[in-house]
Amino acid sequence: MRISKIGVVGAGQMGAGIAQVAAQSGFEVFVNDVGDEVLKRGQSNIEQSLARLVKKGLFDKCQTESICKNITWVKSLKTFETVDIVIEAAPEKVELKRDIFADLDKIVRSTTILASNTSSISITKIAQASRLPERCIGMHFMNPVPVMKLVEIVRGLQTSDETYESVRDLAQKMGKVSTLCRDFAGFISNRLLMPFINEAFFVLQEGMASAKDIDTTMKLGMNHPMGPLELADFIGLDTCLAVCEVMHRELGEDKYRPSPLLRQYVDAGYLGKKKGRGVYQY
Ligand SMILES: NC(=O)c1ccc[n+]([C@@H]2O[C@H](COP(=O)([O-])OP(=O)(O)OC[C@H]3O[C@@H](n4cnc5c(N)ncnc54)[C@H](O)[C@@H]3O)[C@@H](O)[C@H]2O)c1
Repeated sequence: MRISKIGVVGAGQMGAGIAQVAAQSGFEVFVNDVGDEVLKRGQSNIEQSLARLVKKGLFDKCQTESICKNITWVKSLKTFETVDIVIEAAPEKVELKRDIFADLDKIVRSTTILASNTSSISITKIAQASRLPERCIGMHFMNPVPVMKLVEIVRGLQTSDETYESVRDLAQKMGKVSTLCRDFAGFISNRLLMPFINEAFFVLQEGMASAKDIDTTMKLGMNHPMGPLELADFIGLDTCLAVCEVMHRELGEDKYRPSPLLRQYVDAGYLGKKKGRGVYQY
C-alpha cells in the first residue's frame, strides 16, 4: 500500500520525534494531542531539534522550513479521515490506547493502518478495539527518534501480511532499520532493557551504591553510552514503571516486579528529564 499521509496521536517525546522524521522523509503529517499547550510544546521541540541539525550542517534553513510546513497540528482526530496510517504515541496505558483505536476506527478509511508505538502492551489486545484487527500493528520507535536507527515491528496475532509489509517499507523510507517481533509483553527491546533498569533501582533502593556510581560502573565498566538510571530518566520513569507492570502482569513472573523505589519516584511526580526531576535533577 502506498503511504503518503501519516497521522500521529500524541505530541510528546515520541510523537514529536516520529512526526519530525516522517516530515523529514517527505510525508505529509498530522499530529493530534489533547490541548494547545502540548501541541505548542511538540512544535517547539521539533523546531529545536531541526535547529540542531542545521548547526551540524545536515539541513539548511530553507529545508527545515519546508519540513515544518509538512506538519499540521490538530486538536481533533476528525482530520485523520484521509491519512494512510496512524501512529499512536499516547501514554503507556492499555485502556487509553484501546479508546484511541476505537475512536480512530470510526474516523479513518477501512484501508488505513493503525500502528501503536507502545513499548510493551499487547498489540493483539489493543487491536480488539478495532473492527479490523488485521490492520493493527506495533511500530516501536526508539528515543530520540531522529537519532536512533531502530524500529521494532510487532505483529499481533491477527496482523495481516499486507499491513506488516507496508509498515516495514515505511520504516525503511523513514531511514530506519526494522526488526520483527512476535506479540509478547515488552517485545525484544524492553524484555531485555527493563529488567536491567529495574535492577538498578533495586541496587539504589538497597543503598548498595549511589546513583552516580551505579551509572558510572555500567558506563566505564561495560561501555554503555548511558547508565541505567540516567537512561530511565531519559525514557521517563512513568513509562519505565508502566512497562515493568505490563511485563509483570502479562508474563506472570516475579522477576519483572517493579522496584518500590521506582514506584515511589513516579508517585512523587519525579518522572525524569521531561519534568526536570527524576533520579537526577535537571
Ligand atoms: N519515552 C521513551 O523512551 C519511549 C520509547 C519508545 C516508546 N515509547 C512509548 O511511546 C508512547 C508515548 O511515550 P512518550 O515518552 O512520548 O510520552 P509523553 O508523556 O512524552 O507523551 C505522551 C503524549 O500523549 C498525549 N496524550 C495523552 N492522552 C492523549 C489522547 N487521548 N489523545 C492524544 N494525545 C494524548 C499527552 O498529552 C502527551 O503529549 C508510550 O506508549 C511509550 O511507552 C516511549
